[in-house]
Amino acid sequence: MTAELQNISATTSERFAETIAGIINQGAVAVSLSLGHRTGLFDTMARMAPAGSLEIATAADLAERYVREWLAVMVTGGIVDYDPATSRYHLPEAHAACLTRGAALGNLAVYAQHVALMGEIQDRTVACFETGEGTEYGEYPCFHQIMAEDSGQTVAEALFDHILPLAPGIEARLAQGIEVLDAGCGRGLALIEMAKRYPESRFTGYDLCGDAIDWARAAVRRLGLDNVTFEARDLTGYAEPGRFDFVTSFDAIHDQKDPEGLIRGLKASLKPGGTYLVQDIGGSARLENNLNFPMASFLYAISLTHCTPVSIGQGGEGLGTMWGWETCEAILRGAGFVEVDRHVLPHDPMNVWFVARS
Ligand SMILES: C[S@@+](CC[C@H](N)C(=O)[O-])C[C@H]1O[C@@H](n2cnc3c(N)ncnc32)[C@H](O)[C@@H]1O
Repeated sequence: MTAELQNISATTSERFAETIAGIINQGAVAVSLSLGHRTGLFDTMARMAPAGSLEIATAADLAERYVREWLAVMVTGGIVDYDPATSRYHLPEAHAACLTRGAALGNLAVYAQHVALMGEIQDRTVACFETGEGTEYGEYPCFHQIMAEDSGQTVAEALFDHILPLAPGIEARLAQGIEVLDAGCGRGLALIEMAKRYPESRFTGYDLCGDAIDWARAAVRRLGLDNVTFEARDLTGYAEPGRFDFVTSFDAIHDQKDPEGLIRGLKASLKPGGTYLVQDIGGSARLENNLNFPMASFLYAISLTHCTPVSIGQGGEGLGTMWGWETCEAILRGAGFVEVDRHVLPHDPMNVWFVARS
């Protein structure tokens, strides 16, 4: 190798090393964003004028030493402003707009929790690499809480303005009174929102995980709803022919044991002319098409550490989070749905929506 080539490759390596250092640095900020969300520090700071670490810690009812160290991550990460002259910290309004509960732009700190969870499950993931085995939902602390916060923003909050209007005529039918199933409902926030809005309709939610179902049932009791039922149920081999008018699934197909079998079962569970509304991750089945897909690395990492192993853990093939909208569409058509319309909502470019008629 000539000296010139050696110089070029040294420069290229140095630049790449800087990129890697930046990625590691940002990864640490991401985990700390999760801490800021879980401790309520972003919400507390959003309500405060510039303040010292003790004042912030007192307002959040947290230990000052930890809050001060977290603030240092936030300041060096460009999240929080700091005035060295007064030792005061401030969360700018523009930053609070995507980091707080109920934030105008949606709370992105909710998604940072997935990054923290990836670290928490790492020993288990290494074992999966070595053995090829899968995992169980119970091995992911707080998964259903994080998932409910995640889909609470992308699905439950957008249900009436953006999502149900994708299925022509469904709102009128819900108002009249129909039978609705949500498959893989998790904590059931979307179903509960529909049950509150449409008292004439009856809603059923099934999910594999008893802890998520217990949470949903407690919420139903609290709200005094009598038109929604939740049941812990493994949807592998699911069959309830001709029972429902409207079936939904929100991000709940690709990590099943048998996604194709479940979609066939859901098709059979619909009455003639019934509607299936399915949301799943909107990436392509082909890696090369996802290079510019929003947060593609994040989604593949969730796939690696969660969606793929939980499917394999159920004895499934592990299609993964980025199984691809093409795969979903092909399975819907293969299951015999007569109309299959694909949508991407402007507020949510990560997900794809299909409206399919039986
Ligand atoms: C990514 S979560 C989505 C949960 C919920 N739909 C939401 O949007 O918050 C996927 C859900 O599918 C459920 N699930 C996975 N395999 C299942 C199976 N075999 N039977 C029933 N539910 C299953 C999981 O328990 C989990 O709640």
